[in-house]
Amino acid sequence: METKMDYTILGRTGLRVSVMGVGGGGPSRLGKNTGRDESESVAVIRQALDAGVNFIDTAEGYRTEEIVGKAIEGMDRSSLVLSTKKSTSASTTPQDVEKSIEDSLRRLGTDYVDIYHLHGVHPEEYDHLASEIVPTLQKLREAGKIRFIGVTEHFGSDPRHTMLQKALQDDVWDVIMIGFNILNQCAREYVFPKTIENNIGVLIMFAVRIALSRPQRLAEVVQELLERKQLDPADFDVDDPLGFLIHDAGAVSVVDAAYRLCRDEPGTHVVLSGTGNVEHMKANIESFSRPPLPDADLQKLKYIFRRVDSVSGG
Ligand SMILES: NC(=O)c1ccc[n+]([C@@H]2O[C@H](COP(=O)([O-])OP(=O)(O)OC[C@H]3O[C@@H](n4cnc5c(N)ncnc54)[C@H](OP(=O)(O)O)[C@@H]3O)[C@@H](O)[C@H]2O)c1
Repeated sequence: METKMDYTILGRTGLRVSVMGVGGGGPSRLGKNTGRDESESVAVIRQALDAGVNFIDTAEGYRTEEIVGKAIEGMDRSSLVLSTKKSTSASTTPQDVEKSIEDSLRRLGTDYVDIYHLHGVHPEEYDHLASEIVPTLQKLREAGKIRFIGVTEHFGSDPRHTMLQKALQDDVWDVIMIGFNILNQCAREYVFPKTIENNIGVLIMFAVRIALSRPQRLAEVVQELLERKQLDPADFDVDDPLGFLIHDAGAVSVVDAAYRLCRDEPGTHVVLSGTGNVEHMKANIESFSRPPLPDADLQKLKYIFRRVDSVSGG
């Protein structure tokens, strides 16, 4: 099919970004976790760039910054929005951050990153990082090494977004990265009203992950949620919970529905897609070219999963 990429403004950063972004981590790490060689990983990124994607996310912890560096070599740097992250803990020091940014810049082959995040911050680490590390990030911004400051959550252990709810009380974050998907839509209530009010850039991770790409895992997660009474079996077909989404005027697959739901959620800007597989990347680019899901399907998804706030879909 013919594809077309849409663009939006990433909140207060003013950056013009594609609504689809390349994710350099997750279960695939651009194919590093799935047996792909480096040339295939580079090809996946170039395929996305050729389709109009201008946003690439990576992190020092993924060990994919060098692959991103190779994929963008020779490109007009100003046409790209690069996001990378500093791994953190309750003992991270300003010196660690100053070293990490230099290493990230070298691996990416650039002299600035557009968005530099504190990575996977746990709620109990937040106060230390806000008081001891944010001033260093602000200095790096003044020095032109980073353009905007971001924070990402550890969605697997913090599915109710406790850390981000706290972080959004401080007016220092230009961008957040948050888990949001068909199974756990609680960010709509807990977080997006605040990001919309304060014009914070919102990057979506976990749109698909494992449960929405592997039916066996979906069945297990649905079972857990039924046991916890966060799902009601009267609301859907327990044997095929998301089958209703797939029909002529609807989604072509659960993965397709998953990306489109996130793209069209008010308050979200870039939805990251993590794959090391060119066929999957092609299918995902096509998903971002399709219209919104039918309203009846969207309403049904919101209704079935209305109480869920305890899983990440990982
Ligand atoms: N705390 C954080 O800061 C944090 C945490 C997690 C993720 N992230 C960022 O968010 C990005 C997105 O998360 P994610 O990588 O988990 O992405 P995702 O796009 O939600 O899910 C990726 C998973 O779905 C599979 N997949 C993708 N397209 C598919 C398709 N068309 N058909 C079947 N399976 C498909 C991938 O496997 P294949 O390789 O086989 O396609 C991979 O296992 C990450 O790459 C990373 O950049 C940040």
